[in-house]
Amino acid sequence: MSQMLGVALRGTGSCLPARVVPNDEFTDALNLDTSDEWIRSRTGIRARRFASLGETSATLGSAAARTALESASLPATDIDLIVCATVTPDLMCPSTAALIQASLGCRHIPAFDVSAACSGFLYALSIASQFIRTGSAKHALVVGAEVLTRALDFTDRNSCILFGDGAGAVVLTGTPVLNAGVRTIRLYSDGTRQELIQVPSKVTPNPAPGAPLQPRLEFIRIVGREVFRFAVSRMIELIELAEVDCRELGLSGIDVLIPHQVNQRIIDAALESTGFPPEKVVVNLDRYGNTSAASVPIALDEALRTGRCKPGDTVLLVAFGGGLTWSSAIITL
Ligand SMILES: CC(C)(COP(=O)(O)OP(=O)(O)OC[C@H]1O[C@@H](n2cnc3c(N)ncnc32)[C@H](O)[C@@H]1OP(=O)(O)O)[C@@H](O)C(=O)NCCC(=O)NCCS
Repeated sequence: MSQMLGVALRGTGSCLPARVVPNDEFTDALNLDTSDEWIRSRTGIRARRFASLGETSATLGSAAARTALESASLPATDIDLIVCATVTPDLMCPSTAALIQASLGCRHIPAFDVSAACSGFLYALSIASQFIRTGSAKHALVVGAEVLTRALDFTDRNSCILFGDGAGAVVLTGTPVLNAGVRTIRLYSDGTRQELIQVPSKVTPNPAPGAPLQPRLEFIRIVGREVFRFAVSRMIELIELAEVDCRELGLSGIDVLIPHQVNQRIIDAALESTGFPPEKVVVNLDRYGNTSAASVPIALDEALRTGRCKPGDTVLLVAFGGGLTWSSAIITL
């Protein structure tokens, strides 16, 4: 068997739609029974971005991927694999990854989507890393891209204030240094709790002849309070497991924690329980809300571009969401 390779993070990129939607828009334009004060104090969100006409997961994902390729100094034709995490694909088929492959002008490489909601980016990262570790791909593009605001019920104050649109991407490259870059990834799911977060399908169920028609889900549905509890307990568990995973570094060896951006209170509760230092945590949910699979790569790209983390730092990425799913990764940049 040929030798296993390390997986270096070679570049990052992100793309946010230009349209900023502040909290006041829900009260002023949509007459929703909420307030800027409630949203800020209960979630930490001040604004989010909404995709405009013509902007889709594929267009935002392509733009994020182009920036990632620039930062990696790689032409699109060098990419050997594209994995795109999304629960809001432009179409069920072709995949969003295939649309990105065409838009970038890549060769005839494998390109496919992964559906794991807000954990999707780390699921995609895990798959791409394994292609690289085994030498099946030299350079891979991993994208998280979402337009969840297209599936919001703007009469449901429990859910519509939480989400935003955007995309983030990373370029991974094989390296002979085995422990460089992506060190560990953990992925989990629990489908028995599927009803806590649901995103509608574009496909109408086709029941067996004679079976009653199921009503089709039209909008995102969440059981917010339950998801909150789940998210806090899983985030605590994943931070504790990170200590096991990077035994030689210890938790103090983690320079930066990038959590899935859902709710400031979820992050605060997990930090309080684990004693992880808040000054090491990257938060941008105040500006972008929850962008699902795009949230972690957008925050990672911003953290690198603004100097919150730098090459050589070790980052812990933590995500949780629909499925239910939860996941973490430790990467040395
Ligand atoms: C949704 C969330 C912000 C609600 O915060 P919370 O503190 O748990 O609030 P609760 O659900 O307990 O609701 C408290 C009250 O606020 C009300 N409320 C909910 N949304 C509101 C809003 N936008 N504005 C004003 N009041 C609101 C509720 O109706 C409830 O009123 P009641 O007590 O009269 O029934 C929070 O639970 C959360 O962030 N959950 C996770 C979100 C999620 O699922 N994300 C997607 C997957 S990662």
